[in-house]
Amino acid sequence: MRRDFSIDTLLLICLSLPIIYTQTLPSCFIHRQANNNGFHRELQTDISLESSPENQLESCQVVLAENISSSFYFDLDQIEMLYDMGAPLIYSEQKIDVEKPAVHSSSHLVYVYQDLTLVKSEHGRSSFAANFSVPFHLRYHQSSTDQTHYFSADLQPPNVFIHCRVDSLELNASYDIPCGSSPEKQCKSTALHCV
Ligand SMILES: *[C@@H]1O[C@H](CO)[C@@H](O)[C@H](O)[C@H]1NC(C)=O
Ligand SMILES: *[C@@H]1O[C@H](CO)[C@@H](O)[C@H](O)[C@H]1NC(C)=O
Ligand SMILES: *[C@@H]1O[C@H](CO)[C@@H](O)[C@H](O)[C@H]1NC(C)=O
Repeated sequence: MRRDFSIDTLLLICLSLPIIYTQTLPSCFIHRQANNNGFHRELQTDISLESSPENQLESCQVVLAENISSSFYFDLDQIEMLYDMGAPLIYSEQKIDVEKPAVHSSSHLVYVYQDLTLVKSEHGRSSFAANFSVPFHLRYHQSSTDQTHYFSADLQPPNVFIHCRVDSLELNASYDIPCGSSPEKQCKSTALHCV
């Protein structure tokens, strides 16, 4: 009896090892900057991932979940029109009123999607990038004299997810995020910790 138990335990350990191994998250780096001045600006977010060979990231998409405060807005129609010129896919469950001043507006959750592309691969490590360039606009503020200061205090870092079309990536895909090309569906996604 004792012997059977230990064989089972050994088997369990052996089976668990590859799963722990493949669940190593790629290292994620985020660089973010706001370009232009005034009310109409551009938010540039560059994500780069460093992965070991067991992570097949070629068919993956990076998703930014942006909490857009009432101080500014994304014009979803404008971004959709820029799609052919390289703007990312964008989706919001909520309607965004582009006319309202900040005091009468609320925050919005917006998903922004970009395919991950291979940048280079050497010594068994690969680096991938997903760069996002999104126009955004400041809402009108009542009696605000320092727009820039107000804005920079308000721009929250996004939550970053990765979603892969093939299941070759055995990451811990435990989040349901609207899929990029068909947002009525939910895609199993993995949260990345970007620095
Ligand atoms: C977005 O940020 C605001 C203000 O910080 C917060 O109240 C709200 O709950 C956040 N929304 C989401 C979806 O995280
Ligand atoms: C993304 O931007 C970085 C600079 O921040 C650049 O080095 C890289 O080549 C860009 N990658 C792609 C796929 O556009
Ligand atoms: C997978 O994600 C869930 C939810 O975030 C978390 O509780 C769990 O510890 C994660 N597992 C691993 C192996 O990272």
